[in-house]
Amino acid sequence: MPLARTSSVGLVGLQGHLVEIEADLSKGIPNFTMIGLPDTSVREARDRIRAALVNSEQSWPRRRITINLSPATLPKRGSGFDLALAVALLAAAGVVPASALGDTALLGELGLDGSVRPLRGVLPSVLAAQRAGLHRVIVPADNLAEACLVPKVDVVGVASLADLVGYLRGEQCRVFIGAVAEERPPLPGPDLRDIVGQAQGRRALEVAAAGGHHLYLQGPPGAGKTMLAERLSGILPRLDDDEALEVTAIHSVAGVLPPDSPFVRRPPYESPHHTSSTASIVGGGSGIARPGAISRAHRGVLFLDEAPEFASGVLDALRQPLESGQVTLHRSGGQARYPAAFQLVLAANPCPCASPGGDQSCVCTSLTRRRYLGRLSGPLLDRVDLHVTLLPVTRQALLGDGVAEASVDVAQRVLAARAAAAERLAVDGLRRNADIPGPALRRRWRLARSTMTGVEAALDRGLLSARGVDRVLRVAWTLADLTGAASPGRSELDEAMGMRLRGYAA
Ligand SMILES: Nc1ncnc2c1ncn2[C@@H]1O[C@H](COP(=O)(O)OP(=O)(O)O)[C@@H](O)[C@H]1O
Ligand SMILES: [Mg+2]
Ligand SMILES: [Zn+2]
Repeated sequence: MPLARTSSVGLVGLQGHLVEIEADLSKGIPNFTMIGLPDTSVREARDRIRAALVNSEQSWPRRRITINLSPATLPKRGSGFDLALAVALLAAAGVVPASALGDTALLGELGLDGSVRPLRGVLPSVLAAQRAGLHRVIVPADNLAEACLVPKVDVVGVASLADLVGYLRGEQCRVFIGAVAEERPPLPGPDLRDIVGQAQGRRALEVAAAGGHHLYLQGPPGAGKTMLAERLSGILPRLDDDEALEVTAIHSVAGVLPPDSPFVRRPPYESPHHTSSTASIVGGGSGIARPGAISRAHRGVLFLDEAPEFASGVLDALRQPLESGQVTLHRSGGQARYPAAFQLVLAANPCPCASPGGDQSCVCTSLTRRRYLGRLSGPLLDRVDLHVTLLPVTRQALLGDGVAEASVDVAQRVLAARAAAAERLAVDGLRRNADIPGPALRRRWRLARSTMTGVEAALDRGLLSARGVDRVLRVAWTLADLTGAASPGRSELDEAMGMRLRGYAA
């Protein structure tokens, strides 16, 4: 059988495409040619496979070897084709029967010792194989639980090339047959019960969660900005099945899934450090592009602590995803697109000296302060509905014995408010108040003149810009959803206007 075929899957972004691999062995001077748009990492497969075969007690065929990857137009990246390439060679050499390969996709990287190593992106790859009508997928044993999240396809996990050869030859050997991955209850995250006082900050967090609003927290060091931000994802509604599969697929390609309990069920939380590279935040890298923090935070929270300290390039790079909910990574041979619909939380000290006493012990000039906060650009902050100033917690409050409300209780109100918003916004095809475009706020969701008097006065006095009015309105709708009102009244508008930085006309 000098010609054999296997199937594998190539990823472009989260999209998997079936890749056919043909191996042809012919007489002549031994050599090796690979055609069909392989990148460097795929070309290097030859050396990995040669070593893996030899270390699995197989021999490298002393023939003219031609490998063809198709479709030729699809760029092939990464080391995930190793297993399919090796098995195609073995089938062409007659070591494994071609009949054992029908309807099967092979995914896996080979170690030089013949071990099968785990891959990034197994979940979207197995999904693609299943959707293409294949009935069986062979994956690295370490990716078994993840692969088993895909229904209606048989999953076989292998730990070594030798085991795989034995399995395909119908011999007794060690393979792992897929079982449905067990869903473990998530570990409890940080809880709002731990936060003393900060009624305003807690309220802002609840409103952010209920309306999907981005949130900007400003306040002196030690006020509890970081503590609050860390507790946002814990009061967001659980992901539904489709969302969970999508988020899990992103985390799979990012290579951050825990192998034993791979299903991401809770909205993720990402807090990249301000020294992180643009690629680690936005995504990139060689081979299969790695989703960055903004994509790992998809359908969850992206927290930029000490936001003015981030490189301006990173802050600018957030604008496109904030607009479109996805990020496009431009690379040689094409682009990769990953979802990036995150809820943004920014935190900033009022000035760079970070004096814990806030205003009293600050040594910064007013120019320094303005420059510092000015690093957060207008276009970025325009997308952030909630701009809240936190005051330091009083000693009294910290030493008091009051018991704060727990995250589970807040989460219930958030869930109810989300349901109300989703029902009302269904006519616009939207689910969250944060997504209502300005024109819709002023037309379909227009409020009575009499309700708007306070807002109009603020507009006249220059305390509010036109964009600021939109933000106030969105937040007011969320406040109404939280109280169960049909639409915002004056008190919701007043509270929404209060949820802006003091002295900040926007
Ligand atoms: N409201 C609060 N309730 C309880 N502890 C607080 C509160 N605010 C601050 N702390 C304490 O101070 C520490 C620093 O808080 P942090 O959230 O990092 O403040 P910030 O981010 O505003 O500088 C926390 O680890 C916590 O121990
Ligand atoms: Mg902090
Ligand atoms: Zn200062």
